[in-house]
Amino acid sequence: LNDKTYDLKAAIRTIPDYPKPGILFRDITTLLGDARAFRRAIDELVQPWSGAKIDKVAGMEARGFILGGAVAHQLSAGFVPIRKKGKLPHTKVSIAYSLEYGLDEMEIHDDAVVAGERVILVDDLIATGGTATGAVGLLKKIGADVVAACFVIDLPDLGGADKIRALGVPVRTLMSFE
Ligand code: PRP
Ligand code: HPA
Repeated sequence: LNDKTYDLKAAIRTIPDYPKPGILFRDITTLLGDARAFRRAIDELVQPWSGAKIDKVAGMEARGFILGGAVAHQLSAGFVPIRKKGKLPHTKVSIAYSLEYGLDEMEIHDDAVVAGERVILVDDLIATGGTATGAVGLLKKIGADVVAACFVIDLPDLGGADKIRALGVPVRTLMSFE
């Protein structure tokens, strides 16, 4: 399963006109369902951090849970869920974040990290960067040291990765779709 020449990008399925006309939706379910592709994506996400001390991996609901959970396991790190509002049971911190149309709120438990813990953020895809900006904001509010933000897919035309870099957080992505 550990094949360095594997074409990860070919494992992404593109769905035209989903969820709206004119959008080319990059669907990771085909990557997740392909054992070699899933293994390779996780290995590539983990690779820069194998010698580093990472205390926790934070993942954004919903697809960030799948990838972030696997990355956390491989790094022997803890996992921190960042959820859409109303889903977390304990004392939490909230932040508004921008969606393509309008605003929503995401939340994190206020004791999800110990101040100064080194955290990497993981999600499947960065588009406008609204979701990741909110997630970085939440992690900083609870005292995390956000070491990097890691994504399988970058949509560089939408500028999200540059927005996160402008916050002082390094960004790593495995592939881009123009
Ligand atoms: C998608 C994707 C990212 C986010 C990226 O999630 O999984 O989290 O959008 O877009 P952005 O960079 O413009 O914020 P979505 O909001 O569709 O939620 P889901 O994973 O629960 O379907
Ligand atoms: N695929 C998956 N999630 C997304 C996309 C996409 O193309 N654009 C914004 N969120």
